[in-house]
Amino acid sequence: MGLLIENIGTLVGLAEPGVDRREGAAMKELPCLEGAWLLVEEGRIADFGTGVAPVADERADAGGRWLFPSFCDAHTHLVYAGSREQEFLDKINGLSYEEIARRGGGILNSADRLHETSEEELFRQAMERIDEIIRMGTGCVEIKSGYGLRLEDELKMLRVIRRIRRSSPIGVKATFLGAHAVGREYAGRQSEYVDHVCRDMIPAVAREGLAEFVDVFCDEGFFTVEETARILEAGRRHGLTAKIHANELAVSGGVQVGVRFGATSVDHLERTTDVEIEALRGTRTMPTGLPGASFFLGIPYAPVRRMIDAGLGVALATDYNPGSSPSGNMRLVMAMGCIRMKLTPAEALNATTLNGAAAMNASDEYGSITRGKAASFFLTRPLPSLAFFPYAYQTPLIEQVYLRGRRVV
Ligand code: NIG
Ligand code: FE
Repeated sequence: MGLLIENIGTLVGLAEPGVDRREGAAMKELPCLEGAWLLVEEGRIADFGTGVAPVADERADAGGRWLFPSFCDAHTHLVYAGSREQEFLDKINGLSYEEIARRGGGILNSADRLHETSEEELFRQAMERIDEIIRMGTGCVEIKSGYGLRLEDELKMLRVIRRIRRSSPIGVKATFLGAHAVGREYAGRQSEYVDHVCRDMIPAVAREGLAEFVDVFCDEGFFTVEETARILEAGRRHGLTAKIHANELAVSGGVQVGVRFGATSVDHLERTTDVEIEALRGTRTMPTGLPGASFFLGIPYAPVRRMIDAGLGVALATDYNPGSSPSGNMRLVMAMGCIRMKLTPAEALNATTLNGAAAMNASDEYGSITRGKAASFFLTRPLPSLAFFPYAYQTPLIEQVYLRGRRVV
């Protein structure tokens, strides 16, 4: 029975069942096996080891390649219509992200385009991005709504996300982000928009079972802590777990309100002080850095080094979206984690696999080489060391991709 992959140079990222995250000093731990085999049965990791391998129907020779658990990208907005390179040019000419948003660009620009795009076309565009990230090693991805900003368009986005889950072997987690910006019809009436999100959107999303999480952009110029709490409370009543965009533009209080609601993750965190780090200690909320947004917007990088040194676990994700991070490349995220955030390669891999899975409640299936988890992994050409992987960050090292036991690349 099953598929046996033999002659693996190094099998990277093992974890005992039940280990769902690594925190603080433990983020440097990255259990590996050299000269290994791995057995896949019914789409899952059945067994692995060294020495004598079990008998299997099918065998594949890894030829000394390294085998890694798929990346887990816990924060994306990859369902969107078109692109926003005009704003890219505006930024080059000196406008800030906030100024672009104030002029009606930014998120509202994407909402206008999404409104005019059919569900079918939105799905087609999103699937191109899905295929792109699969090739780059991602095996599980969280996708947010938030370019609808009116009930029907938010539902349209979430139905596209559901269709992606049903038609692709990648793992998909859905998040409702109606409070990404105030929809045009509610311009100047932010509080009423928040009521609309709580009273109409969240119940409708829950009724169709379209999302597991509710997210809010809790930041200067977007939603306040009080509005965020209202939305997270409404989400909680409808069975949606919190995630938060916080502290990207200012020290917003978003981390604390997220922790108060037991958020699975609090994300961005570019403006984080010791107070926020303290608030996260001893909680299950995973701080998630998005270095691609820092790079693209030219803003500070989240101080994830300080967080780890304070004993926290951290995740890193792409934030793949048309406005602040038009890239879904988790390997680049891993490299930026090392280069700009001063994580070791082992820490950066834990942040983009095991802790990424925890940041989207996907640890039962993804994030490590563990018996019983989904057989979703990639193989690189033989590497001189783990550090070579983020160091040679642009060299096409990923040669094969398996998702749920099937070779897809
Ligand atoms: O995570 N910060 C808020 N939202 C997105 C950007 C969305 C956009 O500009 O379209 C982000 O960076
Ligand atoms: Fe985001």
